Amino acid sequence: MSENNAAVHAHGLRKHYGELVAVDGIDFDVRVGECFGLLGPNGAGKTTTMKMIYGLAEVEEGQLQVLGMDVSSHRREVKARLGVVPQAENLDRELTVRENLLVQAGFFGLPDEWAQRRADELLGLAGLSARAGARPIELSGGMRRRLLIARALINDPALVVLDEPTTGLDPQARQSVWERLEALRGRGVTLLLSTHYMEEATRLCDRLVVMDTGRIVAHGSPAELMERFGAPNLEAVFLQLTGRELDA
Ligand SMILES: Nc1ncnc2c1ncn2[C@@H]1O[C@H](COP(=O)(O)OP(=O)(O)OP(=O)(O)O)[C@@H](O)[C@H]1O
Ligand SMILES: [Mg+2]
Repeated sequence: MSENNAAVHAHGLRKHYGELVAVDGIDFDVRVGECFGLLGPNGAGKTTTMKMIYGLAEVEEGQLQVLGMDVSSHRREVKARLGVVPQAENLDRELTVRENLLVQAGFFGLPDEWAQRRADELLGLAGLSARAGARPIELSGGMRRRLLIARALINDPALVVLDEPTTGLDPQARQSVWERLEALRGRGVTLLLSTHYMEEATRLCDRLVVMDTGRIVAHGSPAELMERFGAPNLEAVFLQLTGRELDA
């Protein structure tokens, strides 16, 4: 597909922190409408890559276009069309569930009445309508994660970036997040997610890259990767690529 139609186009993308090369010249394209995965162990460079996409880390070298815009010169425009679920939970503990959504709507300058309707709709989608008045601390881990996803959708984003959306959740809560992500993808929203969980990548991702110490060591669909490496699952693909187990 042409680069310009990609939801994300990264070419020669690189970033150092001091002496450490966090992202070491990576190339990938996320197609519009797909779920694309960044898979890799701790320190692989997944979060750094995502932060460059959503404007929290500066691109040091290489090209990075998001929804057809260069992230360095169009940071605000890109942010307006993105939804972000960060790795570190950053809900406002002083506010209720519903207020967390409304404050986010405020950041995007969305009209009040529209924001109220959208917040209620998203609470319904997240299965949190009955908890609208609760504080985040009163929710379970799975509910908080669903709230983070709902919050990321307040501006009706074209691309949602999710950094380890199910890490730390029990299997049932994970399942419930997966169902919501599948529903989003079914509605044509492009998803970019990072994960340590092979089952998650296999179930959700149309295509993925395997990252290790800042580099992409393989890319393809889960089925293509398993076939190419003659492996029964993605864990075995990673083991063959690196000689190491993927630490979940
Ligand atoms: N703000 C920072 N300052 C210095 N080093 C950083 C910073 N953020 C990340 N790093 C380093 O960059 C490398 C890549 O980190 P990154 O957070 O992108 O990895 P990751 O793949 O998201 O890992 P994890 O699976 O543990 O979340 C690591 O070696 C990390 O220590
Ligand atoms: Mg990370």
